[in-house]
Amino acid sequence: MRKNPPPKILVTSALPYANGPLHLGHIAGAYLPADVYVRYQRLKGRDVLFICGSDEHGVPITVTADREGITPQDVVDRYHVLNKKSFEDLGIRFDNYSRTSLPVHHQTAQEFFSKLHGQNDLVIKTEKQFYSEKSKRFLPDRYVEGVCPVCRYEKARGDQCDKCGKWMEPRELIHPVSKVDGSRPVLKDTRHWYFPMGRFADTWKNWFDSGNWKENVRNYSLGWYNEGLGDRPITRDLAWGVPVPLPDAQGKVLYVWFDAPIGYISSTKEWAEKEGKPEKWKDYWCDPDTRLIHFIGKDNIVFHAILFPMMLQRMGGYVLPSAIPAHEYLTIEGRKISTSLNYAVWVKDYLEVFPPDPLRYTLAANAPENKDTDFSWKQFQNRNNDELADILGNFIHRTLTFVERYSGGKVPARGRLSVLDKNILRAAADAPENMGSLLEKFEFRQATKVFMDLCRAANKYFNDSAPWEKRKSDPEACGTTLNVCLQVAKTVSVIMSPILPASSEKLRAMLNLGEHADWDSAGKPDLAEGHALGKPDILFTKIEDDVIEQEIRKLQALDSGNAVQGPEAGAGRIDIAFFQKVEMKTARVLEAQSVPGSDRLLKLQIDLGSEKRQIVAGVAQSYTPESLVGKTIIVVANLKTAQIRGVTSDGMLLAVQTGAGHRLLITDGDVEPGRRIS
Ligand code: MSP
Ligand code: ZN
Repeated sequence: MRKNPPPKILVTSALPYANGPLHLGHIAGAYLPADVYVRYQRLKGRDVLFICGSDEHGVPITVTADREGITPQDVVDRYHVLNKKSFEDLGIRFDNYSRTSLPVHHQTAQEFFSKLHGQNDLVIKTEKQFYSEKSKRFLPDRYVEGVCPVCRYEKARGDQCDKCGKWMEPRELIHPVSKVDGSRPVLKDTRHWYFPMGRFADTWKNWFDSGNWKENVRNYSLGWYNEGLGDRPITRDLAWGVPVPLPDAQGKVLYVWFDAPIGYISSTKEWAEKEGKPEKWKDYWCDPDTRLIHFIGKDNIVFHAILFPMMLQRMGGYVLPSAIPAHEYLTIEGRKISTSLNYAVWVKDYLEVFPPDPLRYTLAANAPENKDTDFSWKQFQNRNNDELADILGNFIHRTLTFVERYSGGKVPARGRLSVLDKNILRAAADAPENMGSLLEKFEFRQATKVFMDLCRAANKYFNDSAPWEKRKSDPEACGTTLNVCLQVAKTVSVIMSPILPASSEKLRAMLNLGEHADWDSAGKPDLAEGHALGKPDILFTKIEDDVIEQEIRKLQALDSGNAVQGPEAGAGRIDIAFFQKVEMKTARVLEAQSVPGSDRLLKLQIDLGSEKRQIVAGVAQSYTPESLVGKTIIVVANLKTAQIRGVTSDGMLLAVQTGAGHRLLITDGDVEPGRRIS
């Protein structure tokens, strides 16, 4: 690591394909770590620019469009807006979130191609590629699936194997099948422009060897290098993409992995344009002192560590990456996330139920830094309840309510310091530096731990100092304890903010501190005696079991859906036979009671026509028990029974969650109990 930080840091996160919503895997891999890193660098006062945007080209987009019977433009318009909003709502703050369908991008990508072509860096070849006789079209990249030639994974995509990461040509697949029409593709001649990577491999290797790379980046990259970097076609026979800027290339577009990384540059250009300083992008991209950092997931390594740097080297005048913090994969409840099988937790769904910070915390604490890690709802609940609420939240709450009650909401005087006082102040003084040096090394898990450990120590300090006992016997010592707690709370408000930005803002308001926080002075006990605090408020609310159960059930439903459907049907659609496995029936509510110890749950006795049953429903915040009696509701009757808060639930009531609480699903006109819904 360099001693004197360079003046400029340019951070990019992989441009997500605008062909579907964002899920937790994306966030854990490429976006949250980058956002945490950027927020930290800002608090260090560094000049950092954070760039991203939608990847709007490539086969993932056209496959989605074909499947839904809409245009690629419709697809990207929909998901660009949706994903941009998900990022905003999660507190992931890019300086610019662009789109690769914008003219500035098309121009920039075409300039790259033209320059490489002009200096004879490209090779033109006519080679055989897969073609569907049935659909009369070429089938590049993911239009073909088959068995991976390396690891024998059966659902390898034509451009890359999801399992072992091999970057390949569709031709290399064993048992290829067209994704467009299920036919067996034939080989047909087509003329394309190739980037002869082998020719530039030595220069690349010299540069790469001088870098300090994460182990996965080094291993994958050297693996590919040793295998031999051949000629890679960088054009495609497709109607959607950046047109190849040559008169004899009608109907051809640039390969998505040629144009997409250039998107980082065009997004920076768009940012500079919006800033009113159109040339300012060069301050970052064309200054060799810029630290360029690419945050990606592991499947993107070859493109960011080899292809793009090589392109930049051939272009000349561009900065090359200094670090590529590539993350391994996040799984969910022990299973691989799959967009095509619709097995995922989607960010937008998460945000309808929970605030952003608990997710940010969970994913940072459990980041798939060096190996795949698993997200489970239980673990999420535990991290929220046992760490955020019980440790951090509790420390802040007891400190602030105590000060409000006994000290008039003002910072009390600090008297002589005991050993306990000194120890916790030292822990707070050290934490920013400790956490910062871990963040500099992209060690997010450890960094998160440093921060939570300080909160843990602070909570223990409050206990051990027992200000409630000393209040009468030794008011000066009591005041000192609270003063010290407030100093630590200030430290916490700064160092938590990269991971928990919304909660940090809330805490800073409670401490009546301005928005301007600074990392280097975060550990200084400089809250002045007599400083008036704001109103204490709750930082984190606990998440109840039934709320988590519901999330788990949603996933289980997706899971069993996949088992029935099989991967071939794709698209997360189910057939009618699958739907019919779900037995939904009308039922009449006979009795309703609240569940002791829960303000969300009601226990209902229902008449299901042929039988009476008990179910537990989480609608107590919208319906009183009395108001439900006599209503005809809709329940899923063939669910396995569940224990919710120790109460047996033999069915599930259907309701929609709205911003204003739950609304029951009811029938239009009275229907007798026990009728099947189909
Ligand atoms: N469009 C390309 C990136 C182009 S960068 C010039 C792409 N898009 S993606 O939408 O499929 O993925 C976005 C990012 O999320 C990628 O960096 C990918 O590696 C990462 N991840 C996708 N699924 C992930 C997990 N399950 N876990 C961790 N990271 C994951 O790839
Ligand atoms: Zn493979």
